[in-house]
Amino acid sequence: MRILGIETSCDETAAAIVESGKRIISNIIYSQEKIHSDFGGVVPELASREHVKRIDSIVKKALSSASLGYDDIDGIAVTQGPGLIGSLLVGISFAKALALSISKPLVGVNHILAHLYAPELEYSVQYPAIGLIVSGGHTSIYYVEGIMKYERLSRTRDDAAGEILDKIAKFLGLGYPGGPIIDKIAKEGNKERYRFSIPKMSDGSRDFSFSGIKSAALRIIRKEGKELNIADFVASFQEIVVNYLVLNLFSFVREHNPRSIILAGGVSRNSRLRKMVEEESEKIGIKYYLPSPILCTDNAAMIAGLGYHYFEREEYLSYTTAPFSRFEPKGYKLIRSKA
Ligand code: KG4
Ligand code: ZN
Repeated sequence: MRILGIETSCDETAAAIVESGKRIISNIIYSQEKIHSDFGGVVPELASREHVKRIDSIVKKALSSASLGYDDIDGIAVTQGPGLIGSLLVGISFAKALALSISKPLVGVNHILAHLYAPELEYSVQYPAIGLIVSGGHTSIYYVEGIMKYERLSRTRDDAAGEILDKIAKFLGLGYPGGPIIDKIAKEGNKERYRFSIPKMSDGSRDFSFSGIKSAALRIIRKEGKELNIADFVASFQEIVVNYLVLNLFSFVREHNPRSIILAGGVSRNSRLRKMVEEESEKIGIKYYLPSPILCTDNAAMIAGLGYHYFEREEYLSYTTAPFSRFEPKGYKLIRSKA
């Protein structure tokens, strides 16, 4: 079964064709980074307009680079949410119109769960797994019992990890998106030069909260002024963010004793995070899956891949179904209710 996947939840216009949920035939991503870089963050209205301009040609490119036509696909999978509502609307409206005009079935896929599915495009993942999703919009940890069987264990109560990397980089005038820039500069810096502490929730929960680290970073920047050593600062700042993610991730790993660990989302491209997860996993002898960088970032291959499983369950999207902007337990099964 060949599925055409369409992804427009944020600032990437993407289309891909995946066979049987596993084999990527084409994977086209158009990133709007340049458009948003002057603003130091994604401007929702500009993102939607750009999706409108690009979506048709990106979908056609996904087909032509696979040397396939509309007749050769069996169905369409589109990101239904969460994401920017205007951006999602472009993808969903396009997918509905296309599905109707070529008489193909359509499914609506949860973007977060598709990130968790990304390693399946490269490996046969051993379940149960603990998955960390870390991007510009999300920072959460899931217990993954199997494909489409998930439970959220932890989430951020304020900023996402990628968001604070981007905001601090913007404040320092380093460019956008800040995550990869910080990753690069941090390699030259002393990660022990500036001191941060790991946040602790007052209610004892293991949810994340990144706003305290962001405020501490801003305080140091203001206090040090011209004396601030950018490479050392950026290395120390990245180190606390990565340490916090890894500490929380492995506390759930110890508790649930899964067979593997999954990393997903744009920030999982971070070299320090990948290295720490590798080292910590090897220490305790657990398997880990770090998707290739192109599958960490927003892409449509993960949408087409997970979409295949929606088709298998015959969970079709109704033509009246709207996108959703926040995480909803739609399209996945809660295996346990949160204590
Ligand atoms: O998953 P993604 O492409 O989009 C969503 O936010 O859904 O993630 C984008 C985020 C941005 O915050 C970006 O700065 C961050 O991923 N990022 C990185 C790296 N590459 C991308 N953060 C740290 N290190 C990187 N190498
Ligand atoms: Zn994403």
